[in-house]
Amino acid sequence: MSKRNKLSKFADIMSFPNVYQNFSPKEIKPLGKNGVEVQLKGKWSEHFGNEKAITLELACGRGEYTIQLARDYNDRNFIGVDVKGARIWKGAKMAIEEGLENVAFMRTKIEVIEEFFAPNEISEIWITFADPFIGKPNRRLTAPAFHDRYKNMLKDGGIVHMKIDDPTLYESTKEVLAERNDVKILYDRDDIYSQALDFPELEYKTYYEKSHLEKGRKIKYMQWTYL
Ligand SMILES: C[S@@+](CC[C@H](N)C(=O)[O-])C[C@H]1O[C@@H](n2cnc3c(N)ncnc32)[C@H](O)[C@@H]1O
Repeated sequence: MSKRNKLSKFADIMSFPNVYQNFSPKEIKPLGKNGVEVQLKGKWSEHFGNEKAITLELACGRGEYTIQLARDYNDRNFIGVDVKGARIWKGAKMAIEEGLENVAFMRTKIEVIEEFFAPNEISEIWITFADPFIGKPNRRLTAPAFHDRYKNMLKDGGIVHMKIDDPTLYESTKEVLAERNDVKILYDRDDIYSQALDFPELEYKTYYEKSHLEKGRKIKYMQWTYL
């Protein structure tokens, strides 16, 4: 993507009503439409205008899961989270064009996610094709430090869904979860397309999933909850 194209997308998302951005993890200052500071932690119902359950998609990229879930479940709200504004632009624009009012995007580093969501504010989390960060395991979105953040934000019984191709990230996630004494694995398949899908949402394909499938990679999917 050219620098010019990127800058134009950054300018666009600043004017979108469904995007919030926090530019530095060192300074918590979430900006909404036209750069106005908006603190929505514990108050996302004010953005959506209702109290419906909220699902987060972490590492949402272009927001394919956020958008498709929102189309299929209009009784729920969905927020895509990613640090890359030019990727979020795609999902946010699509949501505006389709009139999907149950969609929002939060641009931030996920390391500071608890600054934007209150304890018990979230019902489900999807982690879609997160980076494996080979050689930098602490940066993985399922590294030990992330789980207490997820557990705090989730309501009791809230589910984390992870869809992934990378075997290192898949195995390391299972090792990290096994070391905790408060995790219940609800579902785990290491090659979901080798059999009939158990959940219709697994049909959705993100940009990265399509590229992994073209290379013949196996797609894995897990669900867990914190006790
Ligand atoms: C491999 S891409 C997957 C994007 C999308 N889910 C898909 O499947 O097409 C991983 C995404 O995670 C985002 N990401 C990685 N680490 C992050 C972090 N610590 N905080 C926020 N976003 C992060 C990247 O910006 C990137 O868009």
